[in-house]
Amino acid sequence: MSTTRSLYETLADFAVSTWGNNKDYDGLDAVIMALAEGARLVQSKVEAAALAGVLGSTGDINVQGEVVQILDTFASDAFVSVLKGSGRVAAIGCEEIEGTVVLGDGAGQDYIVQMDPLDGSSNIDVAISIGSIFGIWKRDPGEAIGDASLLRPGREQVAAVYTVYGSSTMMVLATRDGVQGFTLNRPEKMFQLTHPDIRIPDEVSCYSTNEGNFNTLDGATQMAVLALRESYSLRYVGSLVADFHRNLLKGGIFMYPGNPGSPEGKLRLMYESNPLAFVAEQAGGAASSGEQRILDIQPERPHQRTPLIIGNRDAVEQTVAIMKGG
Ligand code: AHG
Ligand code: MN
Ligand code: MN
Repeated sequence: MSTTRSLYETLADFAVSTWGNNKDYDGLDAVIMALAEGARLVQSKVEAAALAGVLGSTGDINVQGEVVQILDTFASDAFVSVLKGSGRVAAIGCEEIEGTVVLGDGAGQDYIVQMDPLDGSSNIDVAISIGSIFGIWKRDPGEAIGDASLLRPGREQVAAVYTVYGSSTMMVLATRDGVQGFTLNRPEKMFQLTHPDIRIPDEVSCYSTNEGNFNTLDGATQMAVLALRESYSLRYVGSLVADFHRNLLKGGIFMYPGNPGSPEGKLRLMYESNPLAFVAEQAGGAASSGEQRILDIQPERPHQRTPLIIGNRDAVEQTVAIMKGG
């Protein structure tokens, strides 16, 4: 463990000690603490579920063409509210909101956040782990805020965060200095450092893909899945963030490839693939679209999708090579 951190250090102490006196990241601690507050709000609803009336759908269809779950909307509203309250965010891109949420370009509003407020919505009603995913970019000073200013490549993120609402609630925070895991201490209402300096293991324990899609894949991608099938156990939760988190801690590879019917696949670039690709690389892993490094993709549309192969670097590179016919 690095010498500068003490186990069970609170997220607040970590954030202040990491960025409190760093002018390049002035205010990033406030953004992180806002996300922690939002995560606690969402976690309390996830835990109460039917008792809090947050199961089921709103009946609306979102910009993705998907039925909106009640918890999708609650989480989206909660995170917009706490990020606005931080006073440090200029604009938000959100899976559940078609246009850019412009909060303002006043002094100190230095950050842009892209978010999937509730990932794994199909698992909400059946008490299976779900989560939230965030990418954070530093705003270009003086740049007008609008859709175009949010279309930043993932390599320019200053931090990425995801939470998993599972048997425990964790918040994983990646910066350019590494990846730290915090566990929610619910009675104390705070996140504490329990997984310092996370590195993805060299050994791959499992592969994660929706095998139900196998017959829709092109031949080379089928070969890639067959190679994984022959080497590893299959673990697939259906919540990207839960599958990713397990693979990050235990070693593994997740893939949601495109197919001839939908070449871009299902997962979204800005607020699913980019943040998790940043975490993966900071933990020694890799993330590819099958064509290029996820973090190098120049975004063109706010809700664009991308194929995603992410996890242990060797496994990602081998899988991509097979997909390319290698
Ligand atoms: P979301 O709930 O934010 O729409 O994301 C769901 C995604 C992702 O979490 C998961 O890996 C994937 O959908 C599962 O898709 P399939 O059910 O097609 O396998
Ligand atoms: Mn999602
Ligand atoms: Mn979602």
